[in-house]
Amino acid sequence: MRIYREKDYDGVSRRVAYIIAAQLLLKPDAVLGLATGSTPVGAYERLVEMYQAGIIDFSKARSVNLDEYIGLSGHDPQSYATFMHENLFSKVNMDPANINIPNGMAADPKAEASRYEALIQDMGGIDLQLLGIGLNGHIGFNEPADRFLDHTHPEHLTESTIEANKRFFASGDEVPKMAITMGIRTIFDARRIILAISGTNKAEALNAALRGPISPQMPASILQLHHDLIVVADEAALTLYL
Ligand code: PGA
Repeated sequence: MRIYREKDYDGVSRRVAYIIAAQLLLKPDAVLGLATGSTPVGAYERLVEMYQAGIIDFSKARSVNLDEYIGLSGHDPQSYATFMHENLFSKVNMDPANINIPNGMAADPKAEASRYEALIQDMGGIDLQLLGIGLNGHIGFNEPADRFLDHTHPEHLTESTIEANKRFFASGDEVPKMAITMGIRTIFDARRIILAISGTNKAEALNAALRGPISPQMPASILQLHHDLIVVADEAALTLYL
C-alpha cells in the first residue's frame, strides 16, 4: 500500500487525476473503474482540464462504474449515469459505446448484475479502480455484512448510507433502498486500486479500514491485502492515522 498525504481536497483531486492520467497515457484503452459521490468530483474536473489541454485522450478508454441505484433510469437526475455524464463523460471524448454502468431499471436486477460481471470479465478486467469510502466503510455499495460478497450483485442500502446520500435528494424517502454494485471480488481483482478519502468525517473509516482487523463488517479493510493499493487522502482524513 502506498499513501499519498495531501494537504486538502484539491490536493487529493489533483493526485487522483494524475494517477488516472498516467494510466491512460500508458494504456490508452485502459479499463477504468469509476466512482460517484462527492469525493471524485474534483478529480474529474482536473481530468477534464487535462483533456482540454490536450494532455490526455479518452477516445479509446473504456469504463465500468462501480454501482447504480435500482429503480432510477439512466436519465434520472439522481442516477449515477447522469452524475457521470455531467461530471465527466459529456466533457471528454469517451466513446459512448465504451461506457458501462449497471442498468438500474433492469426487470431482473440479479440477471443484470450477472451480465455486468460477465461484461467486466470479457473486457479483461479492470486496470484501475477508483474508490471512495462510506462512513460505514462501504466500497461501492458493499455494506457491512457477515461475509464479503464476491461478485456484482443487488444490495440493500443501510440506514447510514441512505442518511449520508439523502443530501443529493429532496428527502430521505426518495433515496432508493437498493443498488446494483460490483462485489468485493470484482473490485479486488482490479490490477490497481485508488482509494480517495477527504475530510475529518472520514477519519474513523480510514483508520478502521487501513489499520483495523480485516472484516466484512468494515468492507474497505479487505483492501489492506491488495497488491497495488494507492491511498490518496488529505490531512483531515488522516488525523487518526498517524
Ligand atoms: P462520498 O461517498 O464521496 O460522497 O463521500 C463515498 C462513498 O459513499 O463511497
